[in-house]
Amino acid sequence: MDTELLEKTARELVAPGRGILAADESNGTMSNRLEAVGVEPSPETRRAYRSNIFATPDYESAISGVILFDETIRQTMDDGTPIPEYLASRGVHPGIKVDTGAKELAHHSGEKVTEGLDGLRERCMEYFALGARFAKWRAVIRIGDGMPSDANISTNAHALARYAAICQEQGLVPIIEPEVLMDGDHDSQTCFEVTARILDATFAECEIQGVHIPGALLKPNMVLPGKSCEDQGTREKAAQMTVDCLTAHVPHELPGIVFLSGGQSDEDATAHLNLMNSMAVEHPWQLSYSYGRALLAHALQTWASGSNEESQNAFAHRAAMNSLARSGEWSTELEA
Ligand code: 13P
Repeated sequence: MDTELLEKTARELVAPGRGILAADESNGTMSNRLEAVGVEPSPETRRAYRSNIFATPDYESAISGVILFDETIRQTMDDGTPIPEYLASRGVHPGIKVDTGAKELAHHSGEKVTEGLDGLRERCMEYFALGARFAKWRAVIRIGDGMPSDANISTNAHALARYAAICQEQGLVPIIEPEVLMDGDHDSQTCFEVTARILDATFAECEIQGVHIPGALLKPNMVLPGKSCEDQGTREKAAQMTVDCLTAHVPHELPGIVFLSGGQSDEDATAHLNLMNSMAVEHPWQLSYSYGRALLAHALQTWASGSNEESQNAFAHRAAMNSLARSGEWSTELEA
């Protein structure tokens, strides 16, 4: 394991003012999103939409890395340059989603375990050769009646740690993503407790598997009430509970935490991050973003309505807003 390379890449991915663009929707998810805005999904429409985003001028100060899907890492920009090569030429690390999706967990109706460990070492070698320098694996934890079960927590934690160890062996910084979903009517205290449980289990497995924590990143949910919970609380409460949970349950030698947006509005995702980075305490890790929808939802809509340039502007705006939130310098007025 090249710990020096891993630590350097991890630090670069969470450098001040910068965060990650998650553009790694599987073909199924990306196709659904294209259909929802009236575009016929195909390898070419997925490529055309994404390569236009990647060609946006001047986002390097806000974007340190882009997570790609297997199809995209093999595609090219309009001029034929391979996408990972193009991103690297702009000082942006190409990343790759390496899990193969969340599948039904046996004997646990409604719960899922993320698969993809078979052949992972060989796939990591190939992705490294294609230019990838970091990877992502997403586990999905649902809150509900009797959920999450111990089986859901332990299987996903084990898989995340094995994934992380294999990536590190092959020179890829693993982004460890245990996502507690916002679906449901649970309150924020329940989200806090479930998030704490999956974090504890994941880092305990990482220790057993020998994962080098200074060469890894965590991609958690924020601590929020379920979407259907009557008490939606305040942004301040969400930011405080999130930081409290992470401080108590994430090793302090981890270089960075890159949040997912998880279905929050664009502005909530930015505001929460901004609040966390405005606190009077110094956090042990960089607090950054690895947003998908909160960086691209508007950009996809404008691209579908026909304007490449407006789509780039929409992405550049969200990237700039989140970059400011890295240092607590964002404010609502800047959204106008
Ligand atoms: P969202 O920010 O849209 O939740 O996506 C981030 C991600 O990569 C989820 O796996």
